[in-house]
Amino acid sequence: MLVLGIETSCDETGLAIYDSEKGLLADELFSQIEIHQDYGGVVPELASRDHADRVLPLLQNLLKSTDKTLDDIDLIAYTAGPGLKGCLLVGSTFARSLAYITDKPIISVNHIEAHLLAPFMEYPELSFPFFGLLISGGHTMIVDAKTIGEYEIMGETLDDAVGEAFDKSAKLMGLDYPGGPLIEKLAKEGIEGSYKFPRPVLNKPNCDFSFSGLKTHIMLTWKASEKTEQDQKNISLELQNSVSDCLVGKLKRAHSEKGHPSIVISGGVSANQFIRERITTFAESIDAKAYYPTKKFCTDNGAMIAYAGYKKYEAGQMYNLHGEVKPRWPLDKLNECLNG
Ligand code: KG4
Ligand code: ZN
Repeated sequence: MLVLGIETSCDETGLAIYDSEKGLLADELFSQIEIHQDYGGVVPELASRDHADRVLPLLQNLLKSTDKTLDDIDLIAYTAGPGLKGCLLVGSTFARSLAYITDKPIISVNHIEAHLLAPFMEYPELSFPFFGLLISGGHTMIVDAKTIGEYEIMGETLDDAVGEAFDKSAKLMGLDYPGGPLIEKLAKEGIEGSYKFPRPVLNKPNCDFSFSGLKTHIMLTWKASEKTEQDQKNISLELQNSVSDCLVGKLKRAHSEKGHPSIVISGGVSANQFIRERITTFAESIDAKAYYPTKKFCTDNGAMIAYAGYKKYEAGQMYNLHGEVKPRWPLDKLNECLNG
């Protein structure tokens, strides 16, 4: 079965074809980073306009590179939420039009569920139940993934997402958007022990996170510093240390509650090598295994939507939103959309 995946929820236009026999055939991605860079964050109207311009040429490239036609596609999967409404509507309208003209089935995919399922593409040994740690620009949560379609959110951020904390801290120090990769680079040359930032809500008896206080702390630290490049490096290092301690601390708590043997880490921040190593070391210490998608599948992409579309179809979990998109679509409320 050939599945076309369409992702347009935020600032990446991603399309891919997944073959249930052969795996991923090809994927096309356009990242809008440069479009939003001057604004220090994603501008929704610019994002949706660009998705509308890109989605058809990307589909044409995809079909050409795989030597397929629309008639070869058996299922069309698209992100219906969560995300920016205008952006989601571009993908939804495009997917629905394709399904209509080809008379093929269509499946609505939850973007967060797709992030959680993505590592199955690369790690056949991975199985439910597992912990999902989603760390991106828009989300930070620990999920108890019981089985496909059944998820319990054990904890999430009370304010900023972890990627947001990286991006906002970077902006405060005059760095470009997105700040995460730059912070990681600078942190490599930071001097350990130069600063000690708080580990917000780490000791609270739950799996929640909070990062907005950390950002304020960094603003004050930066203002009081001499604003040299070394200050940027030292702050970046301690930011990474603080974030890693919080992520590992809450995973530890989640593990003490449920004891799952696998941790699936996804979302843009999981591209951070330092955080990966900290989580891997923790996982080894409890005899668990940490699974990461390849870096290009950590951030938003069409492959994870095509793959999730296939897995949901196979499981008989067809969410049909009838053209509606869901800017907010909680992971623990998926079943409400079944056969809708
Ligand atoms: O999953 P993603 O592509 O989409 C959104 O949720 O928007 O994640 C993007 C986020 C941004 O906040 C970016 O700064 C962060 O992931 N990010 C990183 C790294 N690479 C991307 N954060 C820390 N270290 C990195 N290497
Ligand atoms: Zn995402």
